[in-house]
Amino acid sequence: MKKRVSCISAIIVCVVLLSAVAAFATAKSDKKGLLVHNSIYGSTIETAYWVKAIIGHENQLDVKALPQVITVEPYDYVIIGSVTRNEGPTQPIYDFIDTFKADLQKKEICFFLNCGDTDETMILKVPGAKAHLIAGRNYLLDVFEKYPDLDLKVIGGFGGRQVMPSMGTKDNLQIWLVGKLAKEGAPWEGLDIWESLVPERVEAFANEVRTKILGLEPRENVEQFRGYWESEQPGSLKDASKKKFKPKPFTEVVNIDKLYYSRSRIKGDLDLGINLLQQWAKAEGVTLEEQVKTFYNVYYHAKKKYGEKEFTVHLVTSTLPDDPGTVHFSFRCFEKAEGRTGVETDIQKAEKLLWADDRQVK
Ligand SMILES: Cc1cc2nc3c(=O)[nH]c(=O)nc-3n(C[C@H](O)[C@H](O)[C@H](O)COP(=O)(O)O)c2cc1C
Repeated sequence: MKKRVSCISAIIVCVVLLSAVAAFATAKSDKKGLLVHNSIYGSTIETAYWVKAIIGHENQLDVKALPQVITVEPYDYVIIGSVTRNEGPTQPIYDFIDTFKADLQKKEICFFLNCGDTDETMILKVPGAKAHLIAGRNYLLDVFEKYPDLDLKVIGGFGGRQVMPSMGTKDNLQIWLVGKLAKEGAPWEGLDIWESLVPERVEAFANEVRTKILGLEPRENVEQFRGYWESEQPGSLKDASKKKFKPKPFTEVVNIDKLYYSRSRIKGDLDLGINLLQQWAKAEGVTLEEQVKTFYNVYYHAKKKYGEKEFTVHLVTSTLPDDPGTVHFSFRCFEKAEGRTGVETDIQKAEKLLWADDRQVK
């Protein structure tokens, strides 16, 4: 009798466990979503369907190009995906937001960009313009500023794909010019297809939509969906050995006449990064002037007088979604090498402090 009771209990436990597992496997949300995309050469559409696959086909998420959307009213949340042009989303995306602003303000919004530059500690200095923070999520700063009433819950700056032979004349010219002007060189030179996309960012973004918007568990084994992006197209038709994808190094020093640039990362979070930089500034008599502050990074002008001349170091500390548990730093001085020695010494002192106690990740 006792044996039979324990056998029945075991069966009940198994049934309960199995139904819990089944419920988890098919967990779905009742929320209805719209993913609206604007792409010029197609890469943003590739990532749109990739994001949808991770969010899960069991969840209602309509994927539509801008001209297919006549209303956003039926949806609980809207994901906006845009190619990056001239350091931000395209004009049609701004027009879309303006058209549906009243409705969008009542919804949860997520926003991702396909872009060329992904390093969110990057400062761009080109002749005739003020040095400024660019790349990845930084291209959404203008959206944050213009639309403070949008409830932007999840954002991503993924990187992207640039297929040189398909570009129109005007685009080709612009890209060529940027390559010539960029102080740090153009990574796409010599390639037919240049890529910068960081797959982990797409995965982190889609899983954040699952957790923050849909209230679901993050999806595991997300690597299985990378086929939405991977392709056999070679980096160069003339030289198929050329790789399409060369990740930008997290640790680097560039010491040339027009630039001193140093980049590294340590274990820790943004608060630690800020704290250590403040300690360094105090010890070395450097004034930190905050230019931009977001939940993931801070951009400072670090100013100090050497002799009669005041020098500015463009200093960024940032966390990256694809490198959890670390905080990154970039120091840039655009002054000529001659007379820059004091600045270089102070940057090296900052790094000594940042990297101390075995914090540096190489
Ligand atoms: C004319 C032109 C301007 C661009 N401007 C930027 C830019 O300001 N910042 C950036 O990171 N990427 C820029 N890109 C790179 C694209 O955003 C990137 O290649 C993207 O993956 C292309 O998306 P699509 O295939 O959906 O059109 C530009 C590309 C072109 C052709």
